[in-house]
Amino acid sequence: MSVPVLETRSLAKSYGGVPALKDGSLAIARGEVHALMGENGAGKSTLIRILAGATTADRGSISIEGVPVSIDNPTQSRRLGLRFIHQELSIIPELSVAENLFLGRPYPRRMGFFADWRELNRRAFSALDALDIGHIDPNQKIARLSLGDQMLVKIAAAFLDEDGEAARIYVMDEPTAALTSEESERLFKVIAGLTERGRSVIYVSHRMDEVMRIAKRVSVLRDGETVATRIIADISKAEMIELMTGRRIADAYPRRHASAVNTSALRLAAASSPSVCEVTFDLQAGEILGLTGLSGAGQSEILRLVVGADKWLGGTIELDGRELKAGTPAERWADGIAYVPRERRREGLLPRASISDNTVLAHLRKLSRAGILCSRRKELQCSAEIASRVKLKSTGGRQPVFQLSGGNQQKVVLARAILGGPRVLLLDEPTRGVDVGAKFDIHTLVRELAANGVAVLLASSDLSELIGMADRILVMREGRQVAIVPTAGLTQSKLLALSFGEPA
Ligand SMILES: Nc1ncnc2c1ncn2[C@@H]1O[C@H](COP(=O)(O)OP(=O)(O)OP(=O)(O)O)[C@@H](O)[C@H]1O
Ligand SMILES: [Mg+2]
Repeated sequence: MSVPVLETRSLAKSYGGVPALKDGSLAIARGEVHALMGENGAGKSTLIRILAGATTADRGSISIEGVPVSIDNPTQSRRLGLRFIHQELSIIPELSVAENLFLGRPYPRRMGFFADWRELNRRAFSALDALDIGHIDPNQKIARLSLGDQMLVKIAAAFLDEDGEAARIYVMDEPTAALTSEESERLFKVIAGLTERGRSVIYVSHRMDEVMRIAKRVSVLRDGETVATRIIADISKAEMIELMTGRRIADAYPRRHASAVNTSALRLAAASSPSVCEVTFDLQAGEILGLTGLSGAGQSEILRLVVGADKWLGGTIELDGRELKAGTPAERWADGIAYVPRERRREGLLPRASISDNTVLAHLRKLSRAGILCSRRKELQCSAEIASRVKLKSTGGRQPVFQLSGGNQQKVVLARAILGGPRVLLLDEPTRGVDVGAKFDIHTLVRELAANGVAVLLASSDLSELIGMADRILVMREGRQVAIVPTAGLTQSKLLALSFGEPA
């Protein structure tokens, strides 16, 4: 191999004596998509934060085109030609799309002083247009966009090259985790265009099929150490999983238990909200009903309607045969409807609070006897139990949630949802950003809950997950329900055709 564009040798980083990265060694060739894989907490984002100058390494070295460099801050990283799309979406909701695009960058100015808004919007538009996302209005507040569109804006921001500094390497930390399949396709096209122009991409993803398709080589991190770098064409999925986990895991879905008992747990009849129109289904106890559709078709909004997060405009909702009245998410929670939201940082977690507070606090009333607050010890014990059920990787219940890796934060949200022993479990992209091993564990857990009579609504953009897990799938299109199909014999392409409204 000729001189790598970027090489890291034995990068290491500890937090409070606990190693997050022990030996991060990578060599990225010009024009390649290089995947970086590893279990949740393996150290991928830590390595990336070092490259971004967001944190500094305790040990190790970095060179660019064979020249040793030091990266002490984000400006240096940018000067060296590195561009980032980080795992957690950092946007300022009150600002417009254009302003968010230029966050942390010099705004275009008039007479050296006034921000030139017209120029700002013009550049924003051309940046969006270049990514084929011209449907997003740069003037609009970013908070009004779908999560997928917000992500695409952040991706566009990484491509702005206003100061003429040539980008060499784009580093993407799970860019497709919040995207639907059609949005991902758009991104893959952009990536192909980049590599054609000799740029390199470091691509972090837990989606094996995606990595197999777009990457040329893969490096695997395990417990903070680079354990292998392989050419994708020469490695099988099973080998890759074994490299990541050190064990053999079937890349499959847990076996179905006996089918649902015949008692209705959740029944919607012509239920409507501002985003969904007249949704009707009857979910049995022990049944898993999948929800799918293109981005923004209303699948997440069905969950939001049921949980009382969106306005309920009409129709009826019955829980265990009892008609529900309009209520808040807290009241629904008390009714036994648990919810795992899609955007964990915004709707799901208190990042500064501990794991134990994030999981157990929501249920304190159940734990406490006669209204007396339960003891700290009991709270920790309870959070430890639930943490082990979702196989959370942490230093203990007192650890603040922001310190956890992305996938482990997702597990905290799930832990909280199942802790109360819900009747109905609403899951929105529950395995987004979760590694293969943990994904299998979560799927197994959901199956067990269903086998014990919990009714599950599962919204997912991962079609294989839907087909592997659900008993039936409800397809949404533009806020309307277009079909409910049994999963037996269903293929991904048939499901996609239904979402698009094409004859299968
Ligand atoms: N600020 C911090 N303080 C303490 N520990 C941290 C901090 N940031 C990360 N860690 C720990 O470092 C380890 C590696 O985390 P990292 O975020 O790099 O994992 P990852 O490979 O990106 O995982 P994921 O796939 O879940 O995103 C984890 O155990 C995490 O808890
Ligand atoms: Mg990460």
